[in-house]
Amino acid sequence: MTDEKRTVLVCQSSSCLERGGTALLAAFQAADLPADVEVQATTCLGQCNMASNVRILPEETWYCRLQPEDAERVVEEHLKKGDRLTDKLHPRIHSSYRLY
Ligand code: FES
Repeated sequence: MTDEKRTVLVCQSSSCLERGGTALLAAFQAADLPADVEVQATTCLGQCNMASNVRILPEETWYCRLQPEDAERVVEEHLKKGDRLTDKLHPRIHSSYRLY
């Protein structure tokens, strides 16, 4: 593991707020995060029709249609174990994911 911080950007703009974005951000902030992970609110990620959206940097993982209860899965399965949640990946951005 590198010293580089990972950042979880949680959209806090209109469409995502209408679909639970506030609670999603709160769930990430309350989670037992690995030491190298920080959570930040962000403005619109340009994927409003797929709300609620989360972007993880620097690796560029995009999750969509997240509900607040999904935050724990992202933390436990992805951020701690390195296993992306394939059922929540943005289908256009990660369109080739299943090929690898
Ligand atoms: S409002 Fe969240 S991606 Fe646009």
